[in-house]
Amino acid sequence: MNGSLAGNAQLLLGLAENPPVDAVDVAVCPPFVYLGQAASGLDGCGIVLGAQNLAAFAGGAYTGEISASMLRDLGCEWVIVGHSERRGYFGESDALVVEKLRVALAAGLRPIVCVGETLAQRESGLAEQVVGAQVDALTQGLPDADAKSIVLAYEPVWAIGTGRTATPEQAQEMHVFIRQRLSAGGWLGEEVRVLYGGSVTADNASLLFGKPDIDGALVGGASLVAGNFLAICAAAARVSSGI
Ligand code: PGA
Repeated sequence: MNGSLAGNAQLLLGLAENPPVDAVDVAVCPPFVYLGQAASGLDGCGIVLGAQNLAAFAGGAYTGEISASMLRDLGCEWVIVGHSERRGYFGESDALVVEKLRVALAAGLRPIVCVGETLAQRESGLAEQVVGAQVDALTQGLPDADAKSIVLAYEPVWAIGTGRTATPEQAQEMHVFIRQRLSAGGWLGEEVRVLYGGSVTADNASLLFGKPDIDGALVGGASLVAGNFLAICAAAARVSSGI
């Protein structure tokens, strides 16, 4: 829930100037009300559009909700599903996340599904159990899903907006676990893109991207400054081109 028309205008100008989109896929996911503004501001620059949430229903009388087809209408290609803030503040369950995934995929949106444990869960040694259950809900709820069309984002809740990043080793370890768990559930874990999210900055991005199972980042705070966000994209581009 960041942004304003005036602030976004500046941000979009900065983002649209020379983004490194040849080597990496770059998407921005602004709040719903700014999607139209972002679509115009990013037109032709190669950065694509996504949303931060969607309704679990395809359409109809659900006052206040935003459907997958409305997001497509505004040019969205991606949608974030099950962000920890949705799960934590708005009671989104694994079952609801699966419903949202279903409607997103049916409308041709590519979902970025978030999973991750809290600090208390990590400190109690429950991180894999918690993330494993979130992953199992996906493979069990959508056994026939095309794994390539879905992106997972591992976002340890204790690292989001806190300035406390998982170490590249911690993230790598969990990403391997996530792939194995996806494969055990019948999805092709090797084919699913797995992003890391949680206090990613221009300073730590290269080390994170250097790990073999970290395919990219879901960036929060650092995306509010165009230069910082583009520096993270550039780090991804460097790693993906082997420089
Ligand atoms: P952060 O946010 O990069 O500010 O930690 C990540 C997120 O909101 O998913």
